[in-house]
Amino acid sequence: MRAPPSDLPIRFERVTVRAGGRAILDAVDMTLNPGAPTLLIGPNGSGKTTLLRLAMGLIAPSEGRVTWGEREHVAPVRRAIVFQRPSMLRRSAAANIEYALASADIPRSRWKARIAELLELVGLSEFADRSARQLSGGEQQRLALARALGRDPEVLFLDEPTAALDPAATKAIEDVVRAVAARNIKVVMSTHDLGEARRLAGEVILLNRGRIVESSAGPTFFSNPTTEAAQRFLAGELLL
Ligand SMILES: Nc1ncnc2c1ncn2[C@@H]1O[C@H](COP(=O)(O)OP(=O)(O)OP(=O)(O)O)[C@@H](O)[C@H]1O
Ligand SMILES: [Mg+2]
Repeated sequence: MRAPPSDLPIRFERVTVRAGGRAILDAVDMTLNPGAPTLLIGPNGSGKTTLLRLAMGLIAPSEGRVTWGEREHVAPVRRAIVFQRPSMLRRSAAANIEYALASADIPRSRWKARIAELLELVGLSEFADRSARQLSGGEQQRLALARALGRDPEVLFLDEPTAALDPAATKAIEDVVRAVAARNIKVVMSTHDLGEARRLAGEVILLNRGRIVESSAGPTFFSNPTTEAAQRFLAGELLL
């Protein structure tokens, strides 16, 4: 059997998104390659969520184009996204994953083993039968990750998965991100937490007002930011 064509690299070519009479992303050129996680950082409203939604294929550019594996209009079969506030079905944790497997046309014979494997991966094995909506915020985030991984994506987009979490819950999510990356799944993730970006990033992209102001390998970004905006952002100054 021939391997399905890859969705990577994901390329943005002069991508502009207009909304409310202005450009919320402005002529963005960017390539997301296979490899270690890409971390999106930048102030509120800088365009991180918009960029993730474009890369997932949920919205289309107003100008420019997005390609997946050099192809346009590729259905998001091999991509998955976890939104900032994922909503759970009023069912058990296991049933939430089962629903995702069914939606992804995974054969029923594989569900049980796959659910167990995914719960294990996100550290929720003991919570299989618990009502998903009764899980804590951090546990729900991990369940959302398991659900997204159910479709066996090649690329996983995460929109601030640790935004409302304490350090222990944040570490649990970061551990899952590392485990996912170790399985050669490309992670593209936004965060407001510079420490988190430093811990996880193979590559960092800094957005400000809908533009990429700096993009470089993680260690380089933190040790040797080249733009003034990146230097100021790292120093904790407000980018206005
Ligand atoms: N459909 C829309 N119509 C009008 N403006 C929009 C729309 N979607 C997003 N915006 C605006 O575009 C800008 C970028 O939004 P986006 O959600 O991508 O930013 P963000 O970097 O994810 O911000 P945050 O850190 O707060 O999550 C914001 O100013 C937002 O208000
Ligand atoms: Mg956002």
